[in-house]
Amino acid sequence: MEGGEGVGKSTQARRLAERLGAGGREVVVTREPGGSPGAEAIRELLVHGPVERWSPVSETLLMYAARRDHIERVIAPALARGAWVVCDRFLDSTRAYQGAGGGAPAELIAALERAVVGEVTPDLTLVLDMPSDQGLERAGRRGEAARFEAKGAAFHARLREAFLAIAAREPERCRVLDAGGDVETVAARIWAALAERLPDADPGSAHG
Ligand code: TMP
Repeated sequence: MEGGEGVGKSTQARRLAERLGAGGREVVVTREPGGSPGAEAIRELLVHGPVERWSPVSETLLMYAARRDHIERVIAPALARGAWVVCDRFLDSTRAYQGAGGGAPAELIAALERAVVGEVTPDLTLVLDMPSDQGLERAGRRGEAARFEAKGAAFHARLREAFLAIAAREPERCRVLDAGGDVETVAARIWAALAERLPDADPGSAHG
């Protein structure tokens, strides 16, 4: 689950996990940066403090240290058990925030993806899309992860474009969904996209 600030990913990830679990299969719902004790400790360094605390390259390396720990300790074992993994943000957030937004070199990010993520790529990436000023307003009311929110309106507008560009480049993996509307409406859009792309996910389907 990907997107800019305040698009409702966390709520939707939890709801999706509940619905997927209704089929009886194990579902692991997790997030980045974080998701394992070590990665959550790194998250604390990333999301708090002044904007200039880290450069975009240092941020990239911290995100990838966190991502490696999360993959090794949570995601890869869950997949090996046959669980579904629903992750609130993953590698596209680094491409968007540190790459397109911050200017960290695309070759560095691509090399880290190959070395650190390897085969553990998502089967489906849902990009929840809304105008960045609307998302920021919603995120501001929540008051979390303020360091990234403080990067400014132009930065956040670049993120939206970056997520849309990633989805356009990788249409087999990514699906862009309108994040506007109430929670139920967005949840229905997500479930429809999932049923279309991953028919095995739907407990009610002939495949399930
Ligand atoms: P969250 O608010 O969705 O929990 O994410 C925390 C912040 O971390 C959010 O502002 C986006 C940022 N982030 C990156 O900049 N790069 C990344 O790779 C990830 C996973 C998150």
